[in-house]
Amino acid sequence: MKVGVPRELKDNEYRIAITPAGVRELVVLGHPVLIERGAGEGSSISDTEFERAGATIVPDADVVFSESEMVLKVKEPIEEEFPRLREGLILFTYLHLAASEPVTRALMDSGTTGVAYETVEFPDGSLPLLAPMSEVAGRMAPHVGATWLEREHGGRGVLLGGVSGVRPARVVVIGAGMAGLNSAWIAQGMEAEVVVLDKNINKLRDIDRIHQGKILTLASNRLAVEEACLSADLVIGAVLVPGARAPRIVTEDIIKEMKPGSVVVDISVDQGGCFETTKMTTHSDPTYVVHDVVHYCVGNMPGAVPHTSTYALTNATLPYVVALAEEGLKGAVQQDPGLAKGVNVHQGSVVYEPVAEAHALEFHEFDALS
Ligand SMILES: NC(=O)c1ccc[n+]([C@@H]2O[C@H](COP(=O)([O-])OP(=O)(O)OC[C@H]3O[C@@H](n4cnc5c(N)ncnc54)[C@H](O)[C@@H]3O)[C@@H](O)[C@H]2O)c1
Repeated sequence: MKVGVPRELKDNEYRIAITPAGVRELVVLGHPVLIERGAGEGSSISDTEFERAGATIVPDADVVFSESEMVLKVKEPIEEEFPRLREGLILFTYLHLAASEPVTRALMDSGTTGVAYETVEFPDGSLPLLAPMSEVAGRMAPHVGATWLEREHGGRGVLLGGVSGVRPARVVVIGAGMAGLNSAWIAQGMEAEVVVLDKNINKLRDIDRIHQGKILTLASNRLAVEEACLSADLVIGAVLVPGARAPRIVTEDIIKEMKPGSVVVDISVDQGGCFETTKMTTHSDPTYVVHDVVHYCVGNMPGAVPHTSTYALTNATLPYVVALAEEGLKGAVQQDPGLAKGVNVHQGSVVYEPVAEAHALEFHEFDALS
């Protein structure tokens, strides 16, 4: 199967949907890979590196789309890309179709099969192609927090790890899932005092087992959250209730009582945020201050580290890319029902129920045999 990878066109998107390692894997298995010239530049991967791995560099996206049977992207197509969609093409990317009727209709009208990273599932219902970005955002949060804790950035001027004879910063992480666990881990590695809260005691047990008391774990409830936040220099919000808006766990009253110059990083902002005072910000203007507390609420944190994010994302997508290339759509989804969950639009129909519901479109059961 010919696989194509264009440059991402969405504003401020620097990732690319394949790495040289992915190219080599596909090429060795007999699947030619076409990459648009310069598509890896934003992630610091050169055309030469892709060529060395066996890819063919082509001059523009029109060639990528027209000559490939499957196109790999990072973000959903934008309007400029709609005319390149066509019947029989497989498009494997983050699609977020429930949030966009125009993209849904562009896939339906063109007859492109849209396979969405974000709805591919593992047998336990977890989402393997979303997890790597939570890992990146989680690991970034203590770095970001440390920067904004500096006095010149409006913080209270506390060094995260302290120094000999001086207390380190106290970092409170709310949510012990993929993002929260990684935040706590990095903050502890930077020698801060770290407290993690979660409603799910099993998640806290895992942290205790791994970190053996170096990270304090607390069952999450109103009083525990309040006490933890009032003693914190940095609070990281990393909760998720799948399919729902994030619960507003930290109230404005708590924010009012926090130490002046303390910092909150709300990773959960993409689901509405877990601080009552959260509003979405961007990398170009990442923070604002409420009641003397610096708020960092960037919705696409991994965008700041596209090289790492590209590798993290493609490590997770590559096995599915290989399965699709080797087996074709039908064979691959028959072998892996979790990948079948990724198919959102097929042969002009919406085959993923929440997308059909979101846009009041007719839902058709996906039949891999058709
Ligand atoms: N801002 C960004 O750039 C960015 C990047 C990646 C992910 N995210 C977001 O980060 C959030 C976390 O993702 P994740 O993959 O870590 O999710 P996850 O499912 O792995 O973990 C979420 C955790 O929150 C806990 N939780 C739920 N309700 C709670 C409550 N009331 N009190 C305490 N804990 C509670 C759950 O028990 C779970 O352990 C999601 O909203 C995700 O979309 C944001």
